[in-house]
Amino acid sequence: MRPVPPPKTYRVKSFGCQMNVYDGERMGELLDQQGIKPAAEGEDADLVVLNTCHIREKAAEKVYSDIGRLAKHGDPIIAVAGCVAQAEGEEIMRRAPAVSMVVGPQAYHNLPDMLDAAISGKRATDTDMPVIAKFGALPKRRKSAPSAFLTIQEGCDKFCTYCVVPYTRGAEISRPFDDLVTEARLLIDGGAREITLLGQNVSAWSGVDDVGRSVGLAGLVRALAKLDGLGRLRYMTSHPADMDDALIAAHGELPELMPFLHLPVQSGSDRVLKAMNRSHSADSYLKLLDRFRAARPDLAISGDFIVGFPGETNAEFEETLQLVDAVGYAQAYTFKYSPRPGTPAATMDDQVAGEVMDERLQRLQAAINRDQHAFNTASAGKICDVLIERKGKHDGQWLGKSPWLQSVWIDTAPGSEMALGDLVSVTLQDAGPKSLRGVMRETIPA
Ligand code: SAH
Ligand code: SF4
Ligand code: F3S
Repeated sequence: MRPVPPPKTYRVKSFGCQMNVYDGERMGELLDQQGIKPAAEGEDADLVVLNTCHIREKAAEKVYSDIGRLAKHGDPIIAVAGCVAQAEGEEIMRRAPAVSMVVGPQAYHNLPDMLDAAISGKRATDTDMPVIAKFGALPKRRKSAPSAFLTIQEGCDKFCTYCVVPYTRGAEISRPFDDLVTEARLLIDGGAREITLLGQNVSAWSGVDDVGRSVGLAGLVRALAKLDGLGRLRYMTSHPADMDDALIAAHGELPELMPFLHLPVQSGSDRVLKAMNRSHSADSYLKLLDRFRAARPDLAISGDFIVGFPGETNAEFEETLQLVDAVGYAQAYTFKYSPRPGTPAATMDDQVAGEVMDERLQRLQAAINRDQHAFNTASAGKICDVLIERKGKHDGQWLGKSPWLQSVWIDTAPGSEMALGDLVSVTLQDAGPKSLRGVMRETIPA
């Protein structure tokens, strides 16, 4: 590669899960520290970081079309980060000569050094997985959106047979308690009113608290809930295997812990769940939800589903629809099974035909949409706080989230004051399939 002038502007494009969004923010902070500025909306950047996702084939292939487009348009320095970088490191370098840097999710704290190499014309790959070295090497958090992400746990030891995450993110690790309290404090001081604790298996987090006790996620949540200025706490994604009584109790006791639980189930068929190496059954999942709902009756439930896992029969798919009926999801994500290189399911017999998956996906989505609309309709008339996160399309319109993670829009009267990060007390009305209107009662200033 030719030497290039040091970049003045950058753009980080994150795909995939919330953890990638978090990583994207942290890479942005690193580049800020190097004196590089975020490119203005609509303008070409001198450096583009593609923060990629490897979870499904479509997501993974997208990176190559993006690289092609960038190389033709503006010709920036290109870094590929994220889970495709981890999974395909050297292959990206071979397939895409326009790429200068390939950096894995556990190595991006080395981005500044790699950038120096790129400027001098050397291509660099770093896909090492040192145990949480990156967090200690990253700059301190400075500013934050009203709703902020905080990665507390990374990696996965569960090895579901369809999933690449254990390979791209490595083994389960928990960040230390004190570091998390410090980072949460900085996020709040920087403007966060709500923090979502992130982990591929967030409920597997464990640590030692400030008085030397071994604690799990519930202990961490209890400590963070005490921080001044924090209004709301959430966590995702949990695995049914790691949920404990302490966490269930916390949902009943802590007003800061929002009544929302994202608990992927994947399938309603015990045979399929076993083949997926999920450690729960449909029944144990439902019983677990019952315990959560006993502690917090208004809990909104969310989930993930895969249709068309190898060997899934019509009857087994019907069991998934039955499970959906039994749960009454407030929202859920549905995916067609995508064979991933190196995972056991990719070479299983009886891969399901595309049209069959399409049809199952449609039916499942229809069931989820029906339940989401019903959940929203049942919320109409409720009084709750909405966290204001964005301005709406029209003058005086604001968008935010209810405690149950519903999107809520609020129209304010001319002259009324409202700011991002406000918690506004509203009555919910006009339930739609994906959102509700909030009619203002009073503002609780940030
Ligand atoms: N750690 C979380 C989520 C991991 S990835 C969990 O255990 O649930 C997010 C979702 O992507 C998964 O819950 C699953 O529904 C989906 N997914 C993962 N691998 C997939 C694959 N090969 N094909 C289709 N969907 C997949
Ligand atoms: Fe993937 Fe399963 Fe781990 Fe979730 S628990 S990240 S689906 S292997
Ligand atoms: Fe994708 Fe990696 Fe997240 S594969 S879903 S970006 S952990």
